[in-house]
Amino acid sequence: MIKTIGVVTPGGDAPGMNTALRAVVRTAIFHGLRVMAVERGYAGLIGGDIHPMDLKSVSGILNRGGTILHTVRCPDFKKRSFRKIAARNIKEHGIDAMIVIGGNGSLRGAYELAKESGIVSIVVPASIDNDIPFTDATIGFDTAVNTALDAIDKIRDTAASHERIFIIEVMGRDNGFIALEVGLGAGAEIIMVPEVKCDFNKVCKRLKDGIDRGKLSSIIVVAEGVCKGMNLGEYISKKLGVDVRVTVLGHIQRGGSPSAESRSLACQLGSAAVELLIKGEKNKLVGSVSGKIVITDYAKVLKTKKTIDRSVLKLAEKLSI
Ligand code: F6P
Repeated sequence: MIKTIGVVTPGGDAPGMNTALRAVVRTAIFHGLRVMAVERGYAGLIGGDIHPMDLKSVSGILNRGGTILHTVRCPDFKKRSFRKIAARNIKEHGIDAMIVIGGNGSLRGAYELAKESGIVSIVVPASIDNDIPFTDATIGFDTAVNTALDAIDKIRDTAASHERIFIIEVMGRDNGFIALEVGLGAGAEIIMVPEVKCDFNKVCKRLKDGIDRGKLSSIIVVAEGVCKGMNLGEYISKKLGVDVRVTVLGHIQRGGSPSAESRSLACQLGSAAVELLIKGEKNKLVGSVSGKIVITDYAKVLKTKKTIDRSVLKLAEKLSI
């Protein structure tokens, strides 16, 4: 029987992590469980930086971006020896099961802990990248997209005024979920994602065709995993002899108050994670698919790659002619 739940927010922060943390703590206390929080992600698990939470400790955090538990990238957690120390700390603090609120790397960590040391957990998907399968969206993705859209709308004003080409580099090292959603919503003339082979000449041809049709300004949204926006900018500028400006949105996309959609998802998945543990579920991702709570084994999640919908790329291209 589970009496004490541990909660941790490793990896890159995402808007809505605090909302999910509040849902975990409040649901657990509602069911008479104790909650222990881990500071600084997996580094805190290794260092034993673990403390109790109460109802008040999550007051006023629902709308705050980031994670009040703090986080660090923790390469040590990829090593078995450090995971063993983490598992020992979990047991020594009397934690019966963990809830991990995080992205892909965090899920892999939870999987390894379960496999090697029998640590029971549920993962709540939270990442601006939206790269976790078996959930329509990850917590924070919608907020990041809205933040980027707001920025691009502003850039569009100055791009149109100066009749310039603008390149906007958005986050996404390995996938183009943010770039695609943002590009479609912003009416970008060109969207470049890591899933599609990048061809600077093709980009120039499309821009040139636009200029020939009388287009006075254009927006290119490029995911960071494709290329450096600066390099692309220099190439276009030289090849077409036009004025190009580059904006790297960077970590702005990770901050800010969570959107309504990110908050709702965080409340639902955070609470469901606790109730799943109480029911005896273990080592599962809890996601939301078509509005329904769906749970999936870690091994299956890790074997599956979530892919962008290429028809959306085509749609964006068609609409931004
Ligand atoms: O995983 C989220 C993310 O924001 C990625 O989109 C980005 O590539 C990366 O984290 C940046 O990480 P860091 O803040 O450690 O530089």
